[in-house]
Amino acid sequence: MAETIIIRRMEPSDEKYVLAIDQKIVGEARAASWQQRVFRYLERYYPPVSHIAKANGVVVGFIIGDIRGWEYGMASGAWIDIMGVDTEYQGQGVGRRLVEAFVAQCRHQGIKGIQSFMRDDDTRIQRFLESVGFSRGTLVEYSLEV
Ligand SMILES: CC(C)(COP(=O)(O)OP(=O)(O)OC[C@H]1O[C@@H](n2cnc3c(N)ncnc32)[C@H](O)[C@@H]1OP(=O)(O)O)[C@@H](O)C(=O)NCCC(=O)NCCS
Repeated sequence: MAETIIIRRMEPSDEKYVLAIDQKIVGEARAASWQQRVFRYLERYYPPVSHIAKANGVVVGFIIGDIRGWEYGMASGAWIDIMGVDTEYQGQGVGRRLVEAFVAQCRHQGIKGIQSFMRDDDTRIQRFLESVGFSRGTLVEYSLEV
């Protein structure tokens, strides 16, 4: 029988569970930057768009993002920064439900657009986002090797 998945807003006490999922799906390298980059920021400002998914009381997925003002000359909108679903729960609609919660909160706050950046060759996340209604945007990255 399918387990009941509960989606709720992320809270500071969820950080350790989020980190454990990220370590499992991406590895230690990114996890090392979390304390410095993600949590320090979250502890100052908990964006209401960030959510976690729980199955049988255990955190099995997360979506972290925020709402930013004018950026890149575009109207204010929300950004999905990072998301992940525990390997054992992937492909069961958890990611979709997390995005839906993110979108619902954006609608509630009157946000008109949601963006997310990823590598051009990361077709996995691109196909996932297309499945949940996103399409390719128009932002372009310029870089210089030094
Ligand atoms: C990408 C990820 C967030 C998707 O979450 P999920 O719970 O597995 O996805 P869902 O089961 O909700 O799938 C929703 C839709 O996306 C599609 N989808 C999901 N992963 C896909 C993939 N790798 N390739 C193609 N389509 C995919 C599903 O087929 C489904 O479409 P459908 O409803 O039309 O059948 C999750 O698999 C994950 O954490 N992956 C590893 C880490 C990662 O890439 N994180 C994102 C970068 S920060």
